[in-house]
Amino acid sequence: MSGKTVLVTGGSRSGKSRHALQLASNIDGPKIFLATAEPLDEEMAERIKKHQNERGKEWTTIEEPLDPTSVLRKKGDQPGCIVLDCITLWLSNMVMKDMTREIILQRVHEFIRECKNCASNIIVITNELGSGIVPMEPSARSFRDIAGETNQILAEEFDEVVNMVSGIPVTIKTSAKINSIEQSEDNISEHEFSPGKKQGLYEAIYKRRDMRHFITKPIDPEKLGRILDAAHHAGSVGYMQPWNFLVITDPAVKNKIALNFKNANEEAAQKFSGDRQKLYNSLKLEGIQDAPVNICVTCDRTRFGPNVLGRSTVFETDLFSTCCAVQNLWLAARAEGIAVGWVSILSHDQLKEDLDIPDHIQPVAYLCIGHTEAFYPKPMLETTGWAQRLPVEKLIYYNKWQGTPTDFKVYFPDSTKND
Ligand SMILES: Cc1cc2nc3c(=O)[nH]c(=O)nc-3n(C[C@H](O)[C@H](O)[C@H](O)COP(=O)(O)O)c2cc1C
Repeated sequence: MSGKTVLVTGGSRSGKSRHALQLASNIDGPKIFLATAEPLDEEMAERIKKHQNERGKEWTTIEEPLDPTSVLRKKGDQPGCIVLDCITLWLSNMVMKDMTREIILQRVHEFIRECKNCASNIIVITNELGSGIVPMEPSARSFRDIAGETNQILAEEFDEVVNMVSGIPVTIKTSAKINSIEQSEDNISEHEFSPGKKQGLYEAIYKRRDMRHFITKPIDPEKLGRILDAAHHAGSVGYMQPWNFLVITDPAVKNKIALNFKNANEEAAQKFSGDRQKLYNSLKLEGIQDAPVNICVTCDRTRFGPNVLGRSTVFETDLFSTCCAVQNLWLAARAEGIAVGWVSILSHDQLKEDLDIPDHIQPVAYLCIGHTEAFYPKPMLETTGWAQRLPVEKLIYYNKWQGTPTDFKVYFPDSTKND
């Protein structure tokens, strides 16, 4: 899936760069600052150095005054983001090389095409040059025109456009990336979320990943509180709320669980043979000791007594409810930039013993939770060739098992945009 493209425009000193960096700070993964400015004199070199230090260590700076497209081609295939600062200087560098308007616009189109190919999110900074008085010089007028034309093309093609006014970001175009949220005016319900809020929700859903790679950075307890409160707001049969969350940070406890996994995994590997077993053994299926926090989500099968509203026919609905809580947790964590990995390859009897869990309580999920260097762009089992996402169309039946549509048919978004 390609990343999002964001154009940050505005007058000089309107807070564009600061805003672009702030947007980038909310994106996980490697961060590249693509500078089109050339350190032509000492003062400029000094300013560039100062900005580099301000950005911090997680940033890689690449200076490319003339061909930023080549940098996207080489570096844009990873998640994370690339901030290009700025278009106006790039245009000016091309003008200084005596490139014609046609060639410059051709380069701009090539650049946009490459932005759309990138897995990285691309944030591009540009200047609004046209608001002031008309320049006296013909060459300045022609530069102003190329800059205005370029901004229009970028704004048309990019997913989001933000106009900086006196340091305040004003979103003038929101993303149509997740095309399932585009709809005609007459389909809009008074109850639905605004496009931005919907996009946030869909983004959490599509970008949620089962994660097995963590970094040691600790989790902010307030963040974890929000995530667990989101889990606690899941639906549950008869409002039973049968869950508990055992938050595990003690390395000695994690070691016991890791041993449990090791034993269970050796047994699980025996279920496969040949190449499939080789592939299975190469997969990383847990991050118990790497993740700063583990959470065991349990289900109290006796909560509220034997007669729970809605549970008399399907007794397992308490377990289903607990899974709903886990999904809430997973999505809220993704929105908070926190990685979650579900480890089911465990003996639950051993798990209960290791965590002092009483008999009537059933473990449902064992989760590894922490920060990550980068979220996988696709399910890891897909990338490694273990399994593929099934086409959603094939999973929908109408009116009976395997029934085909008659009067009503569902239309799906272009799934390639969401994968
Ligand atoms: C109930 C459940 C149990 C799972 N158990 C494991 C596990 O033991 N090890 C593992 O690596 N992934 C486990 N997963 C993660 C799945 O492999 C993963 O959800 C699937 O490949 C799709 O990838 P995605 O979650 O990134 O979309 C589990 C997921 C669920 C819902």
